[in-house]
Amino acid sequence: MKNKIETLQDKIKSAHLGGGQARIDSQHKKGKLTARERIHFLMDEGSFEEIGMLVTHRNTDFGMEKEQYLGDGVITGYGTINGRLTYVFSQDFTVFGGSLSETHAEKICKVMEMAMKNGAPIIGLNDSGGARIQEGVVSLGGYADIFYRNVQASGVIPQLSAIMGPCAGGAVYSPAITDFILMVENTSYMFVTGPNVVKTVTHEEVSSEELGGATTHATKSGVTHFACANELDAISHVKKLLSYVPQNCEELPPSLPYEIADENRPALNEVLPQNVSQPYDVRDIISAVADTDSFLEVHKDYAENMVVGFARLAGRSLGIVANQPAYLAGVLDNHASVKAARFVRFCDSFNIPLLVFEDVPGFLPGTDQEWNGIITNGAKLLYAFSEATVPRITVITRKAYGGAYDVMNSKHIGADMNYAWPTAEIAVMGAKGAAEIIFKREITAAENPQDKWLEKEKMYSEIFANPYRAAERGFVDEVIEPSQTRVKLIKAFKMLENKVVNNPRKKHGNIPL
Ligand code: HXC
Repeated sequence: MKNKIETLQDKIKSAHLGGGQARIDSQHKKGKLTARERIHFLMDEGSFEEIGMLVTHRNTDFGMEKEQYLGDGVITGYGTINGRLTYVFSQDFTVFGGSLSETHAEKICKVMEMAMKNGAPIIGLNDSGGARIQEGVVSLGGYADIFYRNVQASGVIPQLSAIMGPCAGGAVYSPAITDFILMVENTSYMFVTGPNVVKTVTHEEVSSEELGGATTHATKSGVTHFACANELDAISHVKKLLSYVPQNCEELPPSLPYEIADENRPALNEVLPQNVSQPYDVRDIISAVADTDSFLEVHKDYAENMVVGFARLAGRSLGIVANQPAYLAGVLDNHASVKAARFVRFCDSFNIPLLVFEDVPGFLPGTDQEWNGIITNGAKLLYAFSEATVPRITVITRKAYGGAYDVMNSKHIGADMNYAWPTAEIAVMGAKGAAEIIFKREITAAENPQDKWLEKEKMYSEIFANPYRAAERGFVDEVIEPSQTRVKLIKAFKMLENKVVNNPRKKHGNIPL
């Protein structure tokens, strides 16, 4: 028995060393943690249980049978994060550069299936040179096995991908299917083809960082939802993100204990600028309405004219979608529409109620927008809100113009409650443009066309630049003082707690992609 236990202990020791001390040192020198250290910081202390520590690859080409490392470049298992069951796989760059072999893929698939079966989130900590080159097509098959399971798991359990090193070629498509991507600045990158291939094909000279680093994907492509300063920051973002979401699609998100106190927020009566064309930061409204310091912004630096993120209201999780007047006047464009649509669909998949703050001058006109598909992209947001069955509430703070009024979670597309502040303006378009079109003949014929235009603008504005026409029709349920917003929302979301909607039976809808 003693010998046998020693053999086991030796194997465990060897597995813990991954590709060996020299490669561990080299990983540290690059400013990166090892796969095991990452798990250590991610999971509750002592909670991690490893699965498949003794797995080895089966390749015999290129003398590979002599190069064996226990675990085969990925550490898989389960544990708890803030007391809640979570599955994890963490690629070990010290073993063949974390490259994906047949058995490496099998290990990942195994924990994905367990996560689905047992209804708990799965976190991928990615740090890999891609397909294990020595294994050829077997490795490509392994990737496809993972992609397939990512799709099966989508909308069933939350899937998060933290990119802690290289992630290139087809490997990028697993994270891309998951719900959220987090990248680490300066040490992680994602691209379909690296700088060398880019140079050969398009003659562009570009660095890895510029092509597919965290900042690039956080600002230009929107591929990553978070660009984190370092690995520990990424890990703490993963934990925070999980705190807002349920374990699976059958459960409700966790809520924190909360005692209702004085929920009036007098400062909100002063939050809007005097001049209706002045910008303001919608985050000021979000932070005044949501529980203190509870807002976690997602996609912060991408399509900044739309703000999305998680928050809590009286301890309960909410998904917030808000036009941002401080950026491009909060206009709806291609990127903002897609960003918000994906977020809405995530929240709806996982029973997270939606709160919308609306101040939108309309869709952005122009060739750039039209040629890049604002029709299809705007339709995504319309579709996402319309199909969402979670409790949905809109607060119109100022402008709700044109098609954007319909799209931004209006009553017509299934919002449960629609509040408006007295400053709301709900109309087909701004008064100036409207007057120019409908009173064109009168304005042109007038002795002083400018004065006539102003007169007609004022007239249109008096009729429509307020919330009362919409309230008369019931399109707005209540016009409220801004200071009462939080109280009203707490009560309304409580009222909607047991909401049930049965959409028509179908295989799945056909969202315009
Ligand atoms: C096998 C690999 C490997 C791979 C790296 N290694 N990538 N082994 N298959 N894909 C090994 C190296 O041989 C080396 O072994 C160790 O990992 C560390 O690699 P280095 O090159 O020394 O590290 P570094 O300088 O940091 O460069 C990392 C890297 C580079 C940029 C990832 O290794 C690289 O370019 N690798 C190849 C990437 C690639 O082309 N992958 C295939 C992509 S296509 P030793 O023994 O020296 O420690 C793909 C298709 C997926 O993935 C398709 C899915 C549908």
